[in-house]
Amino acid sequence: MNQDLLRVLKGEAVSPPPLWFMRQAGRFLPEYRAIREKASMEQLLSDPDLAAEVTLQPIRRFPKLDGAIIFCDILVILDALGCGVTFPEGGPRLARTLDQIDPDQPVDERIFEPVLAAIRKVKTQLPKHVTMLGFAGAPWTLFAYGMEGKGSRNWTRAKTFLHTQPQKALPWLVRLAEAAARLLNLQIEAGAQAVQLFDTWAGELDFDDYRTLAMPPAAMALQQVQGAPRIYFARAAALPQRLTSMPCEALSIPWQVPIQDAMHRFSHNKALQGNLDPAALLAGKDVACRKARAIVEEMKGHPHIFNLGHGILPETDPAVLAAVIEDVKQAMGNE
Ligand code: CP3
Repeated sequence: MNQDLLRVLKGEAVSPPPLWFMRQAGRFLPEYRAIREKASMEQLLSDPDLAAEVTLQPIRRFPKLDGAIIFCDILVILDALGCGVTFPEGGPRLARTLDQIDPDQPVDERIFEPVLAAIRKVKTQLPKHVTMLGFAGAPWTLFAYGMEGKGSRNWTRAKTFLHTQPQKALPWLVRLAEAAARLLNLQIEAGAQAVQLFDTWAGELDFDDYRTLAMPPAAMALQQVQGAPRIYFARAAALPQRLTSMPCEALSIPWQVPIQDAMHRFSHNKALQGNLDPAALLAGKDVACRKARAIVEEMKGHPHIFNLGHGILPETDPAVLAAVIEDVKQAMGNE
């Protein structure tokens, strides 16, 4: 298999770098919004044909993308644990928070079936150069959502529970790690060629708590993943040096962290992914392309997957993304 994205995940520097974009299958695309006019988010998550279609939309529009991330949501794990996840206007809601459910209740793996079927389906239609990416939420990020029951500004309920009832919180983190690893392994069996673990709320914990409470269960999840390279995305303004020993092939660098710092600290044993600020895409082609080229230049000679430093924003103009893709692919093509 000589897909560029997989070569980088093996530690090779590839020029120009392979690229994909976090949240590329979603609301910034008019063709996604057209599907959502007819079908709810819940329908997309339970219908493999719709999920496959939405996964392929960005691949058709941007043929130079090197990765296709399967359409799903990190919250399916909480749904499989019995939280009852829905996606009304204004963001996801849980019918039951984690403290309201029996921690010994088994994971209902039937909830995972549609995403696995969608991966199989996408695989039959994916151009040869495109890598199929699976994903899951990291334990702390799932715990945060699972304790709040919805999005939160400060995640105080989750943090307070973690600090005051560690004897209950820590087993939940282990359980979430096992569920995440299980989902990723099922995705790999279904055809995912690389997987990403999203620790989107890593930066909501202080540096010490992130290192001691959130990283170990994330490491536990990644350790149990077999058969495909692993990318870990911790969205935090400061990244602990300990990430060097995370059991993963690549770190996805948030936009807040200068990529050259990450390169000096982690590139001896990790490929790096990232890290254009998604907001740069809102500033028009000139600004976005200039900032994208600067990242590519900085990462020259190192194993690098070009990406954003967090998910693409719904208000992004697809034409600006197209311009960035062209620029990254031309920046170093003929050296
Ligand atoms: O291209 C892709 O990456 C699509 C697959 C995907 C979705 N969610 C689909 C989705 C992925 C990788 C996610 C991850 C996810 N979901 C994260 C981590 C990624 C990140 O942004 O850091 C988080 C925190 C969630 C939880 C979640 N799901 C929220 C907070 C929301 C509402 C706000 C938002 O970001 O859209 C969702 C809904 C959701 N998940 C949508 C999509 C396309 C929007 C649903 C719609 O209105 O159409």
